[in-house]
Amino acid sequence: MKCQLRVNGEDHTIDVEPRTTLLDALRDNLKLTGTHVGCEHGICGACTVLADGEPVRSCLMLAAQADAGPEITTIEGLSTAPGELSIIQDAFCEAHGLQCGYCTPGMIITASALLERNATPNRDDIVDAISANLCRCTGYGQIVEAIELAAEKLRQRNASPSEASQ
Ligand code: FES
Ligand code: FES
Repeated sequence: MKCQLRVNGEDHTIDVEPRTTLLDALRDNLKLTGTHVGCEHGICGACTVLADGEPVRSCLMLAAQADAGPEITTIEGLSTAPGELSIIQDAFCEAHGLQCGYCTPGMIITASALLERNATPNRDDIVDAISANLCRCTGYGQIVEAIELAAEKLRQRNASPSEASQ
């Protein structure tokens, strides 16, 4: 079946099976491999993307459900330009919020949704937001610190709006 997806601000028409997940469509059809495949059962959060700004498990959503539907944002869509890091990605590097990096795109997408709706999250807000994302390296403390740092950097950026974006 033909499927029209809007991903990271661009429209794509792809051919998929009715059973194709959004995760597979992003990775296999659109070559957006920043979204990771983990459990494929909705448990780990590695495959998290935004659908109209809300975090969703792309392994649990069919590509057909996104046909002419929500605006999908993947980790690639958070960068301001190819090869450049977003403020949240930069904060993860600076605060050592990643080890093997497998959970990282899902964590950063989840953090992005949190910081979009709450510019001043406390530690509990952050823990709550990432509570459905698993890190097999168990680096949760540094992930929380990275999101705190990202929140601070975004507040500084928003105080001087001429600077780079999220
Ligand atoms: S791969 Fe989707 S939740 Fe684990
Ligand atoms: S950094 Fe390895 S799974 Fe989280």
